[in-house]
Amino acid sequence: MGTINGQTAVITGAGSGIGQAVARRLAKHGCPVVLADWNEDGLNDTAASISGPTLVKKLDVRDRQGQMALAAEVKEWAPSPIGLVFNNAGVTVLQGVADASPEDDQWVWDVNFHGVTNGVTAFLPILLEQGSGVIANTSSVFGLVGFPHQSAYCASKFAVRGYTEALRQELKGTGVRAVVVHPGGVKTNIVANARFRSDFRGDHQDVDSAAREFATIARTTPDRAAKIIHEGIEKGRSRIRIGPDAVFLDLLVRIAPTKYFDIIERLEGVVRRGS
Ligand SMILES: NC(=O)c1ccc[n+]([C@@H]2O[C@H](COP(=O)([O-])OP(=O)(O)OC[C@H]3O[C@@H](n4cnc5c(N)ncnc54)[C@H](O)[C@@H]3O)[C@@H](O)[C@H]2O)c1
Repeated sequence: MGTINGQTAVITGAGSGIGQAVARRLAKHGCPVVLADWNEDGLNDTAASISGPTLVKKLDVRDRQGQMALAAEVKEWAPSPIGLVFNNAGVTVLQGVADASPEDDQWVWDVNFHGVTNGVTAFLPILLEQGSGVIANTSSVFGLVGFPHQSAYCASKFAVRGYTEALRQELKGTGVRAVVVHPGGVKTNIVANARFRSDFRGDHQDVDSAAREFATIARTTPDRAAKIIHEGIEKGRSRIRIGPDAVFLDLLVRIAPTKYFDIIERLEGVVRRGS
């Protein structure tokens, strides 16, 4: 199993947060990087901070034809074999099931799940032809546990996990690997960019207030997340958990598969009383 350092890396959601940090880190490790996002300002920020070869592409990951066109362009452009396709762009909505907007649920599903499947469909043939490369798909700790008022997000992230684990079995013997990434709380714009209807405890009336709280809870920086992802891929991991919260919840759900949320609430109570 070779290194991805120096090989071309394709990254969606490269205009912010985890995708931006992974792009910067891999560029420092000699990777030509393909930066894709629908946010042009974010893309330009990322590109401006990278000195190596970059291909910058405004892309909505829901657009399958756009992803196919990008793959064809990358095949022509790539100065080295494609070492990584990181299907990472994602969004969320905060809303309860009973008052959910179906349009917002659909938006989350289309970006988080079909954004991933479109990226795999577009790039897998190139990787199979090469006989090498890693497809890393971003799930979440919410692809391991269900969390109230995050039903569509959880559904999309459980789906990314199942899809990627199935793909992993299909890729045996091809030289191509499938990796699922489960971040815990990472200090990014994910909540600031969310759609908001209601939060679970009713503590927040709008997305700004929810984002402020998220910034105090999320423990891991995007740079740290990028280091864990990069090192996990280099070590040949198939499943990469980011942060102590992700490791803890992954364990908890196995010990208490139906009661984990009761335990989380009790622990939160202890932490709140202690602070
Ligand atoms: N931050 C966390 O705590 C956390 C935890 C678990 C999982 N994740 C996942 O990590 C991934 C990266 O998120 P982040 O935390 O860096 O958030 P972020 O909001 O900082 O970055 C997400 C990026 O995806 C882009 N994007 C959104 N919809 C898109 C679309 N349709 N087409 C193209 N680009 C699109 C956004 O413009 C943004 O640049 C997401 O899949 C998210 O669900 C994040």
